[in-house]
Amino acid sequence: MLEILTIGEETLRKPAQPVDSFGSELKLLADAMIDTMHEDGGIGLAAPQIGVPKRLFVVHLQDEDPRVFVNPEIIETSQETCVQEEGCLSIPGVYADVHRPEGITLQARDVAGKVFTLTASGMLARVIQHEYDHLRGVLFIDRLGDEQREKILRIYEKRQRKRKKRV
Ligand code: NI
Repeated sequence: MLEILTIGEETLRKPAQPVDSFGSELKLLADAMIDTMHEDGGIGLAAPQIGVPKRLFVVHLQDEDPRVFVNPEIIETSQETCVQEEGCLSIPGVYADVHRPEGITLQARDVAGKVFTLTASGMLARVIQHEYDHLRGVLFIDRLGDEQREKILRIYEKRQRKRKKRV
């Protein structure tokens, strides 16, 4: 399994670079990311979260096959927004309501390099936008108000300190 970086690690805050080679190495990386996401109980995982600064993320929703998005670009977002609770494997244990556009259209390549366009709403649009943010060094807490972000971070840090004591 790959190690998932947690908040404080620099790679999580850096813009990722486009993937330029679509060989077996990329397929292995995507498969390892899917395994790691499953292991940690996540529904999405972006390459910067495992210390790889590349524009790549994976998503696996219930009752679907895992999806791989390489060099994605969101080309349209809906006017309507909605609120949903989000968490992140890089800030484990804390959750908050986040406002985002309800629907998106995105263009990306699959793991073999083939271009596809996807229009999504609901949970899929939500996860894609969260992972897409990771490729720009943005975390879901950045989308909260200052007060709420600080509150969430305080809870997170308190939990981390407790965890360290136990180990
Ligand atoms: Ni995340």
